[in-house]
Amino acid sequence: MDNFTFYNPTKLIFGKGQLEELKNEVPQYGKKVLLVYGGGSIKRNGLYDSVMNTLNEIGAEVFELSGVEPNPRLSTVHKGVKICKEEGIEFLLAVGGGSVIDCTKAIAAGAKYDGDAWDLVTKKAFASEALPFGTVLTLAATGSEMNAGSVITNWETNEKYGWGSPVTFPKFSILDPVNTFTVPKDQTIYGIVDMMSHVLEHYFHLTENTEFQDRMAESLLLTVMETAPKLLEDLENYEYRATILYSGTMALNGILNMGYRGDWATHNIEHAVSAVYDIPHGGGLAILFPNWMKHNLKVKPERFKKMAVRVFGVNPEGKTDEEAGLEGIEKLREFWNSIGAPSRLADYDIDDSKLEVMADKAMVNGEFGNFAKLNRDDVLEIYRKSL
Ligand code: NZQ
Ligand code: ZN
Repeated sequence: MDNFTFYNPTKLIFGKGQLEELKNEVPQYGKKVLLVYGGGSIKRNGLYDSVMNTLNEIGAEVFELSGVEPNPRLSTVHKGVKICKEEGIEFLLAVGGGSVIDCTKAIAAGAKYDGDAWDLVTKKAFASEALPFGTVLTLAATGSEMNAGSVITNWETNEKYGWGSPVTFPKFSILDPVNTFTVPKDQTIYGIVDMMSHVLEHYFHLTENTEFQDRMAESLLLTVMETAPKLLEDLENYEYRATILYSGTMALNGILNMGYRGDWATHNIEHAVSAVYDIPHGGGLAILFPNWMKHNLKVKPERFKKMAVRVFGVNPEGKTDEEAGLEGIEKLREFWNSIGAPSRLADYDIDDSKLEVMADKAMVNGEFGNFAKLNRDDVLEIYRKSL
């Protein structure tokens, strides 16, 4: 196990009716609140009214930024920063999925930075200060509600990067499974793939003696795989939604990955795809991850075998580690197919015309991946296998 420091200051407020806690939380940070939300789902399902009523009850002065895109754009971050600076916003409240939360993080830090917020995303400048913000999560997927990460797309240049700093943790996040009842089936599937992919990114590492961490990761994958098919048949089931919501948060809040560094190449490869084609992040991961695995099976076959046996129930008898590992990868693909996730770039009408462009974007900071270093040829091969 490697040395580590664990730091996560986000207060997690979970369960039915917990929106009431806004009354205790928001006044700690200020009265001038910027409410950030997406394309209208919270207006359609009534959450917007509940949040506004609560904010009104505590006498908050509410400003609004709506229309945050899935794969949130720099142009929207700029709009938010402008409102914060002009109106003297004291606190931001993100109500939505990962995109709304990520956008809010960039606005919060951008409001305390003199230059362009893009400098923070591209790491030209470090975010050492941010306005305080909280979240009301509406979609189980990214873990953004309890981590410091944010992923922003510059649509002018087709660049999409992840960034973060210790000041971009939410002060609190309210997770009521009821607020995820209206997430449509396709977005529910993408969220499930995304949280599973976060665990897989952790799982493929080169550090020895991570027994407890491995068991936690395996447990999360097993739990999600057991619950997902039931949830997809019964989208308004509180218990299933609760299990998936909690799993999504735990998958990427730092608790699973103490004492080792996961791989994270597949996320980088996917971000290059969604930067160019604007596809859902979870959909891209479902296509790419099994192909990344096959490409790197030989790096440490025993790791793939471990996952195959413990998570996918592969019988290793009479098989090499590689053979057992490959069977596990096929079973992952089968599982994702069975819940309706995409498996080929063609599912999004993506052909081979921009593979080189995407590979260049993925390579912008040179070779990457902590389990296996990928160069441009590796990336192109994974894209080609995903067509
Ligand atoms: O915009 P609205 O109208 O709200 O609709 C959204 C959006 O169309 C809808 N939705 C959300 N909650 C809903 C709902 N519809 C009905 N009922 C509800 N309760 O779902 C659509 C997708 O929302 P989005 O926020 O884009 O999804 P997700 O949470 O999957 O976030 C994806 C973004 O997060 C980034 C991705 O790259 C992508 O940009 N990531 C962020 C990470 C992080 N900060 O740690 C890590 C991840 O790996 C990921 O890269
Ligand atoms: Zn992800």
